[in-house]
Amino acid sequence: MSIQTNFDLVLFGATGDLAMRKLLPCLYQAHVAGLLHPQGRILGVSRSEMDTESFLAKVETNSKIHVKQNFSDEQWASFIKRIEYLTVNVTCPEDFAALGKKVKSRVETESVVVYLSTAPKFFAQACENLASVGLNADNVRVVLEKPLGTDLVSSQQINNDVGEYFKEEQIYRIDHYLGKESLQNVLALRFANVMFESMWNNKYIKSVQLTIAEQLGVEERGEFYDITGALRDMVQNHLMQMLCMTAMEPPKSLDADDVRDEKVKVIKALKPLTIESVNDNVVRGQYAAAGEMKGYLQELNVPAESFTETYVAIKAEIENERWQGVPFYLRTGKRMADKVAEIVLNFHDLDNHIFPNSKPLANRLVIELQPFDSVRLCVQVKTPGTGNHVEVTPMTIDLDKQLEGRRPEAYERLLLDVINGNLALFNRRDELEAAWEYVMPILDNWAQNTQAPHRYAAHSWGPDAARELLAREGDKWHEDQ
Ligand code: BG6
Repeated sequence: MSIQTNFDLVLFGATGDLAMRKLLPCLYQAHVAGLLHPQGRILGVSRSEMDTESFLAKVETNSKIHVKQNFSDEQWASFIKRIEYLTVNVTCPEDFAALGKKVKSRVETESVVVYLSTAPKFFAQACENLASVGLNADNVRVVLEKPLGTDLVSSQQINNDVGEYFKEEQIYRIDHYLGKESLQNVLALRFANVMFESMWNNKYIKSVQLTIAEQLGVEERGEFYDITGALRDMVQNHLMQMLCMTAMEPPKSLDADDVRDEKVKVIKALKPLTIESVNDNVVRGQYAAAGEMKGYLQELNVPAESFTETYVAIKAEIENERWQGVPFYLRTGKRMADKVAEIVLNFHDLDNHIFPNSKPLANRLVIELQPFDSVRLCVQVKTPGTGNHVEVTPMTIDLDKQLEGRRPEAYERLLLDVINGNLALFNRRDELEAAWEYVMPILDNWAQNTQAPHRYAAHSWGPDAARELLAREGDKWHEDQ
């Protein structure tokens, strides 16, 4: 297949937030970069009755503003020529006839991508209706947006339903964190650099911290968020993927199944939690009002007595030769002090009698994924002068500045991969279900637990209980080190 695959992209939920804010702007960038086949079409689909012209008017108002770079009127005008609109109600089998006809009328189409940016409860019906008009042929790929289920059983159900009509190699389960350049770079750092790979184990590494902190609160998503919570929204998927990329063994190759085989091994090697052990290893938090900032319970569409977590911290352990004895601390939160996603590897301390003012946890590798993409290795160097003192100094690679070339947004990379049939950055069924299995005892514990989540002040670094989780092991979160 050519690099520019001739495609039809059928975008369900085309009037929704994700399509307008992310998917269409990212497709525009791919268009400008010459990465889309000249004849590739985008078919916006939703149940709203309108024609292409009215849809394009919506795109003009709601999507164009999200194009943050490389904007030009000419490019935009040529991009929107790719877009058409069709009214299709996913629950209405009759509506699919026109869709099938439209897609199949173009014989030169090499790849048909059906992106289901709809609520998961519609996935089964959408797939059945697609299949009824032949839109599950071998050249059709279906993209499923997260959250894929609300627990292990519902996720299995979705996978079974979709699996009735599509083969595993046609199913692209998206986790946009895997589309981030900075996360893919973790594999390059590890497997292309002898000094990192040789030290990437329990002999040298004392503990690992994986953080996704956001400054925003739940905004207008209260209704969705309150039945979802941080564990389902961020931990089961994004943090789990960060963990896999950090901890996996070298894959045989970067082919999809080689990478996914290694990732699933990491999740399966996690020491299982039990309903009881959750009490000691997991912290559930919720942001409280601070100054002008509202607390979670005052947010729109959030019940006043809600226990939904906006913060989670987990102490996880990987039971394999490489990582035995190394705690992996995972945490995420809304309304935190800063917006940052990072991986921090703390190295063991040297038994240092030569430089007695050596700092504990002086050596660490900080891989910052966002907002800046950087790698910082902290080392001790001699303080200039007559004494024999050392001080911690970072060696920094600023990937945003030092590397030439455009760094595509996650969704751009992922959409191109679906169009071109590359599954490496998408989740396989067993991987996803293993992640659900790991978090299930947490959900079960919380379902029975009558203790309210630990409160933390909006724009702080989370509840004290999360600090205590690390203090028990003599550790500190990165911002306190
Ligand atoms: C989404 C979550 O998957 O990821 C959001 O649903 C969250 O709640 C977002 O804000 C974070 O993504 P990023 O790329 O901004 O870190």
